[in-house]
Amino acid sequence: MCGIIGILGRDGVSDRLVDGLKRLEYRGYDSAGIATLVNGSIHRRRAEGKLAQLAAVLADNPLDGDAGIGHTRWATHGVPSEDNAHPHATDRVAIVHNGIIENYQELRDKLGADTEYTSDTDTEVVAHLVGKYLEEGLSPKEAVARTLPELEGAFAFVMVFAGEHDLMIGARRGSPLAVGFGEGEMYFGSDALALAPLTRTLSYLEEGDWAVVTHDGVEIFDTDGAPVERKVVQSAVSGAMIGKGNYRHFMQKEIHEQPAVIGDTLHSMLNPASQTITLPPLPVDFAQVPKITASACGTAALAAQVGKYWIESLARLPMEVDLGSELRYRETPLPEGGMALFISQSGETMDTLEALRYAKGQGQHILSVVNVPDSTIARESDTVFQTLAGPEIGVASTKAFTTQLTVIAAIAIAAAKARGHLDRQREATLAAALAEVPGRAAEVLNHDAHIAEVAGMLAEARDVFYMGRGTGYPIAMEGALKLKEISYIHAEGYAAGEMKHGPIALIEDDVPVVMMSPSGPLFDKVASNTQEIVARGGKVIFLSDSEGIAKMSRMAKPAATIELPKVDPFVAPILYTIPMQLLAYHAAVHKGTDVDQPRNLAKSVTVE
Ligand code: G6P
Repeated sequence: MCGIIGILGRDGVSDRLVDGLKRLEYRGYDSAGIATLVNGSIHRRRAEGKLAQLAAVLADNPLDGDAGIGHTRWATHGVPSEDNAHPHATDRVAIVHNGIIENYQELRDKLGADTEYTSDTDTEVVAHLVGKYLEEGLSPKEAVARTLPELEGAFAFVMVFAGEHDLMIGARRGSPLAVGFGEGEMYFGSDALALAPLTRTLSYLEEGDWAVVTHDGVEIFDTDGAPVERKVVQSAVSGAMIGKGNYRHFMQKEIHEQPAVIGDTLHSMLNPASQTITLPPLPVDFAQVPKITASACGTAALAAQVGKYWIESLARLPMEVDLGSELRYRETPLPEGGMALFISQSGETMDTLEALRYAKGQGQHILSVVNVPDSTIARESDTVFQTLAGPEIGVASTKAFTTQLTVIAAIAIAAAKARGHLDRQREATLAAALAEVPGRAAEVLNHDAHIAEVAGMLAEARDVFYMGRGTGYPIAMEGALKLKEISYIHAEGYAAGEMKHGPIALIEDDVPVVMMSPSGPLFDKVASNTQEIVARGGKVIFLSDSEGIAKMSRMAKPAATIELPKVDPFVAPILYTIPMQLLAYHAAVHKGTDVDQPRNLAKSVTVE
């Protein structure tokens, strides 16, 4: 969601604030702004649109100041505009905020009709409330302590105060916030990435904490206002700005990194010599677990869906999958001694985090698959499986998804073994199939030029269907999601067998159908579904291995084919994901949309 940064420095901070915001732009890019203290008074620069607009404003009208805060916004309350851009300020205080103040209307009512607002945001009222307490004679620390209990909702915020060059106050409830320690300087940041060029020495605020920072250090208080100590850690995040290399877009680069990062992730769990899987220590043995409940959002939720097929069929272990935003509101009963699995690239998605907390409250053992090791979801889990995808910058998830699948496949093998459903030979076969994935993924990428040509068919369509069966079904949904996210073409992912129960009514010659059909036990079923579409004039893009394509061509003629290597059906969903990503990528490039920062989206969604 929104990204925030604060620097309590010794000299001009505005360039460094903008640099920090560049690293946070994945959280939102509707508008951006900074506020600094110059000779005791608050000055702001803000701009609608991407960070480049703010940089242009600052180039025309630079800003001094040795203490400052910055923000990059993903709009919730109020349209993207300069007026709604953070920081919000009165003469006395400026604030940057990530989250939603749910009772902002009540607070506005409380402050009365005399207060003048210059934005439609939920945030501005907090500046006025703190400002009112300052007017009444409270110190900044007292004013914040008085304000915090009045706020409902989720937030991370940082404030600077007029006349206070040696003070910055930050607070978190729900949304992440870290305090950074520098040499004679102190910082706040939404994540370690924002602060990486400034410092790697961090303290993560815990739920309800607030922190009073001066040049000499930090005092941290809990929800009740009691002083608390929080661990000081060294972040592993590199300060180097992540570049696109020779690629045109981050998404393209990240798609092409998959053979390497799947390999890295596999090596952390798979011993190629013994063909065995070793997982990190678990809070409970899979053999003792009655059920796994998995939850996630977006692309990560589709990784969980694939996991359900794998874990139920291989380990004979029931697995329920629900979206982060649904699980807890359903008040799902979770069995005693159960295991709950949360999947998240960022480790900060609020809906997933709240689902995790719900499961914890129900006494579940908490496992998570995350890409960011010091994220909140990782810190609140009993066991963390890290995907070694490296930083993912493109908003549409690619390498994070295939590395999530890789980890979950390893979990499925380990669970099946622990539960006595996998003999040594089958374990070795599955481990060998997994070990082959990086090489086979590189082969799929060799078909990039052909896939780009086929993507031309999608770029011109208004609606596209994606279909598969078994583990191909969640991959069909992932293919449709990728296309929607970055090319804005309407797409639906369907179970191929379900098509005859409704969607077939929509088949016309201008509605392409992407059909995934790897050789394996479900091939004949999918081939029949393909024939049903071709018979109705549908334009099928058929994905299979050479054997499958040859077989299909004898039955009905697809409009286009994409050939993939023949692999064990167990690992097919990982490989079939790659053409889904490339089809969406090339369709978006064809249409000229903003591939890395598609409209209305943000990479890390820290509001509910
Ligand atoms: C956002 C992103 C998606 C992502 C989802 C979950 O909606 O745009 O690409 O799949 O969040 O993110 P997470 O970090 O939890 O995997």
